Amino acid sequence: MLDVNEIQTITHDVIVVGAGGAGLRAAVECSRQGLDIGVVCKSLLGKAHTVMAEGGAAAALGNVDSRDNWKIHFRDTMRGGKFLNQWRMAELHAKQSPDRIRELEEWGAVFDRTKDGLIAQRNFGGHRYPRLAHTGDRTGLELIRTLQDKGVHSGISVHQECTVLDLLKDENGRISGMVGYWRETGRFVLYRAKAIIFATGGGGKGWRITSNSWEYTGDGQAMAYRAGAELMDMEFCQFHPTGMVWPPSVRGILVTEGVRGEGGILTNSEGDRFMFKYTPEKFQSETADTVEEANRWLAGDKNARRPPELLTRDVVARSIVQEVKAGRGSPHGGAFLDIGSRRPADYIKKKLPSMYHQFKELAEVDITKDPMEVGPTFHYMMGGIRVDADTQMTRVDGLFACGECAAGLHGANRLGGNSLSDLLVFGRLAGVGAKEFIDANEGLPEINHDQVRGIIRSATDILNREEGENPYLIHEALRDVNQDFVGIYRTKEGLTEGIAKQAELKEKAKTVKAYGTSQYNAGWHEALDLGNLFITCEAIARAALLREESRGGHSRVDFEGEREEWGLVNIVCRMGDDGNMIVEKLERGEDPEHLAKVAHATLEELEGSNG
Ligand code: FUM
Repeated sequence: MLDVNEIQTITHDVIVVGAGGAGLRAAVECSRQGLDIGVVCKSLLGKAHTVMAEGGAAAALGNVDSRDNWKIHFRDTMRGGKFLNQWRMAELHAKQSPDRIRELEEWGAVFDRTKDGLIAQRNFGGHRYPRLAHTGDRTGLELIRTLQDKGVHSGISVHQECTVLDLLKDENGRISGMVGYWRETGRFVLYRAKAIIFATGGGGKGWRITSNSWEYTGDGQAMAYRAGAELMDMEFCQFHPTGMVWPPSVRGILVTEGVRGEGGILTNSEGDRFMFKYTPEKFQSETADTVEEANRWLAGDKNARRPPELLTRDVVARSIVQEVKAGRGSPHGGAFLDIGSRRPADYIKKKLPSMYHQFKELAEVDITKDPMEVGPTFHYMMGGIRVDADTQMTRVDGLFACGECAAGLHGANRLGGNSLSDLLVFGRLAGVGAKEFIDANEGLPEINHDQVRGIIRSATDILNREEGENPYLIHEALRDVNQDFVGIYRTKEGLTEGIAKQAELKEKAKTVKAYGTSQYNAGWHEALDLGNLFITCEAIARAALLREESRGGHSRVDFEGEREEWGLVNIVCRMGDDGNMIVEKLERGEDPEHLAKVAHATLEELEGSNG
């Protein structure tokens, strides 16, 4: 029998899993709280989906338009999320984002500036005022760079290229640690901690067309679920409207919303600026309905309404699909995104340098002269691990979650730019929450050796069986299933078929086989990730089947429009005693009066009122 005492053991007060923005911010906070902190990441430090939030971090600093304030940011976030957001999280986020951005600047982040030397802010979809603090179109990268620097100088320990397999709990149900393996050597490692914070991102790798990189296989959601946490709002997936569609090798790579924020327009094969046709009724009073008005907005007229290209992502993504379905798509099945005819070349190169290079290098398109071809790409999960708003603790003692892997802030649809401020605000709160938990629960919890052995056995079974299924083929098939049946437009029949096909693949995956040893074995890594992806994808499909309406990122062709009764509930998934997934409605309860008043106020009532 495996002797657990012989496994490499690493102990910290708190371990953060994931080294994107949320993980790093949480780690910095733990360190500021005087805790010994370790960060474990599957990839190299600094390689995280955070960098795909290119266009900026939303915070009501009011530097570019002084009418902005936290209340309007809060209102925009609730309206964008179709009122399924957790009220308290949206409040904390809107109130605390400005301080988190200013703090980041103190730690060395170099943001673009206004003429007066303030942090510049750009327009983005669904945000009433220019609100996104940015560094050209590399804001996520700047954020990671700054937090990494701050973290390393705060004394955090980093354990990189280490995949976590599963969580451990003590006899009281409190998190006691986790088991992982070094990707290079395949050797197992036992982590012990008083609290664990997940900041593991999403599961975009379950879809064929995605902006997500290989790491994003829903690991945190799946491990938390197996440990007894709930997943919430899983039906709401964000298909970012503008991913590259050509050439095929780069399909899905993000084209920042910053292009539209800087004035870029969408046209179809007939040269028609089609977004004017798709403004939802609720947003008509705030959206330009003529090209002339949109042009006045671009020229800086503060009284002009915003162009329809800056409607929320769910609306823009669906509009592009509609145009393609109507036979008016671009040659490779998307729409045209034009910035070259709207802004001078120097301006484009200064504000959108990555986009300029990305299209030059990957598609041989000069965006200062020619339009880009773009289409929706799976970008973000609004759903994730259910947490307490103030502390970020899950319902499992000692397990915290923040950033994309957690749910609550964004409701049915996330506004672009809210992810970067989300991870700063809630990364910090998770660190504070972990400290409070540790103070109230002294001591290092005991490790259950049988749990450790069980985790290692299931991992090594994949190597030890004589033959079995190919993990790459299963993953490819799963991506096709989700793209086809759990995509932007959904139906009962499609989702039912998708769930059945997911289940068939999951069954096959039980006998997945990786050839070779555990060293540098990419096939083994792929096989291990698959188990997590199945849980995340199943939760998304099952929640999508249950929600019989269309709201935000969830569009049911067979249940068009929002239904009042569905605005009263979130959907949660949890593991039943038999190991099967339970999917159920969770009543939202009474709206908090003071916040509902803000969310439903008119802009005139809120402008200039930051109290
Ligand atoms: O389009 C973008 O720059 C992405 C931003 C985000 O997802 O927040």
